[in-house]
Amino acid sequence: MKLIVKKDYEEMSKKAADIMIEEIKGNPNIILGLATGSTPIGMYKRMIKRHKEGEVDFSNVKSFNLDEYVGLKGSNPSSYKYFMNENLFDHINIGKENTYIPDGNAKDLNLYSKEYDNLIKKMGGIDIQVLGIGTNGHIGFNEPAKELAVGTSIVKLTENTMKDNSRFFDNPEEIPNTAITMGMGSILKAKKILLLISGENKKEITKRLLENNKVTTQLPASFLLLHPDVTIIVDEKAYKK
Ligand code: PGA
Repeated sequence: MKLIVKKDYEEMSKKAADIMIEEIKGNPNIILGLATGSTPIGMYKRMIKRHKEGEVDFSNVKSFNLDEYVGLKGSNPSSYKYFMNENLFDHINIGKENTYIPDGNAKDLNLYSKEYDNLIKKMGGIDIQVLGIGTNGHIGFNEPAKELAVGTSIVKLTENTMKDNSRFFDNPEEIPNTAITMGMGSILKAKKILLLISGENKKEITKRLLENNKVTTQLPASFLLLHPDVTIIVDEKAYKK
């Protein structure tokens, strides 16, 4: 595991964008694994800027997102589909047909979940997966629990996550309590993983993740310790010595 500590959110985002753009330039047909949330927004902004400056071409890039709420339409501003269009896809030359986001409105969600993993596999697997981390240690929406799903699946969100994410909803009461998420196996199959951590509220979880050197389903991100190619970029606010 490679740990990079950066001064602040801006520096973390810059480094993350540098890594992503290097990867895309090195493989124009790359399959990206993308994340939503506050953390990757700065990285996306820089990727957009450098695309507009002519440095990076997304025309052959494909992407798979980690998760989505169940029951929200893609036109709902709180959906992750809307988030991705607004924060990245609408501003770069990626084909929308090449951007995959789990469909939280699929008729048969269990069948659809299997198909999502199959599609990732069929496309050749994710080359680099971007992750954030929840204050409770979740990755994607894999919440701390006695058992964690291997493949993409439907999960109940914890009160903690619903509280953390209610800020993205005009009416916090409207946050769904169910989501579809890539499973731990879906994530760990990515060839490379880039975990971004920023802010004071992530200090405790970062400490637990970096100091324990043990895996536990109670801290889903700890499974990243088993992956051969993980880079963590953390800012000083989240990194407590
Ligand atoms: P955040 O979410 O980037 O909004 O903090 C991270 C996560 O829940 O994975």
